[in-house]
Amino acid sequence: MSGETANGQTYDFRHAPDRRGTASVKWDVGEGELPMWIADMDFATAPEIVEAMRRKLDLGAFGYEEPRDDYRQAVADWYATQHDARPQTDWMVFATGVVPAISSIVRRIGHVGDNVVVEAPVYNIFYNSIENNGRHALSSDLKRDGDSYNIDFDDLEAKLSNPLTTLMILCNPHNPIGKVWTRNELEHTARLCLKHHVILLSDEIHGDLVLSGPDYTPAFSLKAPLNRQIISLVSPSKTFNLAALHAATAIVPDPDLRAQVARGLNTDEVAEPNLLALDGTIAAYNEGRGWRKALIAQLRSNRENARDFIDRNIEGLSIVGGQATYLMWIDVSALTDDADAFTDEIRRRTGLVLSSGSVYRGDGNRFIRLNFACPPNMLADGLHRLGTGTKAYRSTHIKQSDRSPYKPRRF
Ligand SMILES: Cc1ncc(COP(=O)(O)O)c(C=O)c1O
Repeated sequence: MSGETANGQTYDFRHAPDRRGTASVKWDVGEGELPMWIADMDFATAPEIVEAMRRKLDLGAFGYEEPRDDYRQAVADWYATQHDARPQTDWMVFATGVVPAISSIVRRIGHVGDNVVVEAPVYNIFYNSIENNGRHALSSDLKRDGDSYNIDFDDLEAKLSNPLTTLMILCNPHNPIGKVWTRNELEHTARLCLKHHVILLSDEIHGDLVLSGPDYTPAFSLKAPLNRQIISLVSPSKTFNLAALHAATAIVPDPDLRAQVARGLNTDEVAEPNLLALDGTIAAYNEGRGWRKALIAQLRSNRENARDFIDRNIEGLSIVGGQATYLMWIDVSALTDDADAFTDEIRRRTGLVLSSGSVYRGDGNRFIRLNFACPPNMLADGLHRLGTGTKAYRSTHIKQSDRSPYKPRRF
C-alpha cells in the first residue's frame, strides 16, 4: 500500500472510495464532474475506527445508549495528548453534531430578536443557526491585511457591548480563511465577552487540522475567570472524515452554563448517540493518533502542491495563507467580484465544483473555497480544471487592455 506512514503503520491516502451513486452529498454531481466544495475529505477514515464499528455491528443489538466514562476519558486524553490541554471529564456533554449543538445553544441563550456576533467571512451554517431561530447575525467583519485577516477588536467590542448581544460564535480555527487564532487573540475575545456578559461559543471542529505554525488553543483551556462564559464544541468528524457519525462534545467548564447547555440539548432531543457514535468516537480518539499524523503530512503536501500550481500557472488567482483546515481561500478579485457567477462558469466549462465565497458573507463575494483533501491525482485533475476554466474566464470576461503582466506570487 502506498501512502503516509506514522508510528510504523502505512495509511492509504492515494485512493478515494468511489462514492458516486451513494447517498454522498459531495458526490451527487453529474457524470465527469469533480466536487471540491463541501468540507468532506475523499480519504477513507482510519482503519482502526472501521474495525471498532465492525465490532459494534457484530454485537447485533442496538438499544438506547448513553456516554459513559470511557467516552469522556477518550475525549480528555485526546486533548491532553494532541493539544496539551486536558478538559475535566465532568465538563462534557454529548451532542449529535456541532451544528445541532450550535442551533440548540442559540435557542437556549438569550431571546428571539437578540444579536449573535460572528466574524465574517465565516462558516455559512452559523447564519442558518442564528436566523432560523429568530436571532440577528451581527458581524464584526474580519479585516483583510495582505495575506491574512485580523480581528478589529474596537469594532468587536462595540458589537459585544450592544445590549441586544447575548452570544458570540467564534470559529476556532476559522473556516473558510484557515486562520488559527493565537492564545492572545482568544483571551482578548474572551475578556471582551466576559466584560459585556456575552456567552462565547467556540466551534473547534477544525482544531485537529493545524498544518503549520503554533497549535490552536482550545477555548475551554483559558483560565478562570475567562472560562466562565465559554462553551467549546469539539468533534472527530472533520479530522477523521466522519460527518455522518453525528457525534460531538460540548465542553463547558462553568457548572451553571453547562446545566443550561445540557438542558437545551435534551429539550431539543439532540443529546442521544446513534449506534456507532460512541464506539466510533472512542476509537478515533484512543486509536487515531497515528492516522491523524499521517493525514497532516498528506494535507501539507497537497497544500504545497496546490499553492505551487496556482501561483505558477493560474493568472488572476491569489491564495490567502491559512495555517489550518484543508480548505483553501482563494482571492478572485482580480477577475471578478461575483464569485457565484465565477464558480458557476468554472463548473459549466470544466465540471469542477467549488464553493463560492459569497455564502460566508463579509468580503466573500471576491473569493472561492477549494477543498484539497483528496488523493494527489484527484487534486492534480482539479487544479488543471481550475487553470483551464480560469483561463477561459479571463479570455471571455477581461479585456485584453486590462490584463496585467503576470507575476507568479508566493507567500
Ligand atoms: C466550522 C464548522 N462547524 C461545524 C461543521 C459541521 O459540523 P457537524 O457536521 O458536526 O454538524 C462544519 C462543517 O464543515 C464546519 O466547518
